[in-house]
Amino acid sequence: MILVTGATGGLGRQVIKSLLTTTAASEIVAMVRDVNKATDLKEQGVTVRQADYLDYEALVQAFQGVDKMLLVSAVAFTDRARQHRNVIDAAKQAGVKHLMYTSIQRSTNFVLTEVTESDLATEAYLKASGLVYTILKNGYYFEGLAYLIGSEVPNTEIRFTAGEGKIAFVKRTELAEATAVLLTSAGHENQEYTLVGSEAYSFHDVARELSALAGRSITYRDIALESYVEQKVAAGFPEVVARFFAQWGAATQHGMLAEPDETVEHLLGRKPTSLREYLKTTYFPGF
Ligand SMILES: NC(=O)c1ccc[n+]([C@@H]2O[C@H](COP(=O)([O-])OP(=O)(O)OC[C@H]3O[C@@H](n4cnc5c(N)ncnc54)[C@H](OP(=O)(O)O)[C@@H]3O)[C@@H](O)[C@H]2O)c1
Repeated sequence: MILVTGATGGLGRQVIKSLLTTTAASEIVAMVRDVNKATDLKEQGVTVRQADYLDYEALVQAFQGVDKMLLVSAVAFTDRARQHRNVIDAAKQAGVKHLMYTSIQRSTNFVLTEVTESDLATEAYLKASGLVYTILKNGYYFEGLAYLIGSEVPNTEIRFTAGEGKIAFVKRTELAEATAVLLTSAGHENQEYTLVGSEAYSFHDVARELSALAGRSITYRDIALESYVEQKVAAGFPEVVARFFAQWGAATQHGMLAEPDETVEHLLGRKPTSLREYLKTTYFPGF
């Protein structure tokens, strides 16, 4: 049986949707915190088990009879490393053979606080656990672009703090599809994959594509990190969140998310969504 954690979240739900296209529902287990959010999965015949990463005994119960599992990383601003250690220990105790973990892309050794530190700790813990592992170094989601540039775009210019840095954006649904292929195919024991787009884009590219779609000039202005934080706070975000967004800008400037990779393209068997396609369907659906 294959178990997916975070099954009511953005990535986990899509992984299960993709798994259902190739795998019997009776072979899939969805681990969730709130079963009320998983009625649709139950209706499709998926086994739903309740557990929290902080509840060790519930995790051991949830993992009974599971051969392979996907650990969807916990959210930022929580004790991610501790939660992940619990899941890894419980998987081992329950007899899970193979655990795949959703880490973060690292084209450089830039460390994004709140994300990379706990991912590095989890990767090391998983490798030392004795479980068969696969580490998925996931790229920045296209769906997260609006968080960085603000919902006022494309009605205003882009004011961000990424310099000339690039991101090999990946669409979360395609990342999920690629992950489902990895979960259902052989040969990924103790491997690490970078799951990102086949092309990387700067924020000048984002501005250029938006301009082409809108038929008017939309520019990208690189601003200082502190000005960006002020701008986000003025838009209503708590300062800690504004600083978190700004860190992604710093990571971009340092090239942490810049290296394209063809693994997703190979797993999908087609070109992943391009920047222009993503912007068109998201910002100009009727165009
Ligand atoms: N690469 C990127 O651009 C990017 C962007 C955002 C996040 N991420 C990372 O990738 C992960 C997956 O992304 P996503 O879009 O699926 O995020 P998401 O929609 O926030 O989903 C996170 C999932 O993890 C579950 N979860 C969180 N804490 C848990 C706990 N203590 N015990 C059990 N389950 C817990 C949540 O449960 P509930 O459904 O009950 O809330 C949710 O299902 C995120 O958690 C984060 O680590 C990556």
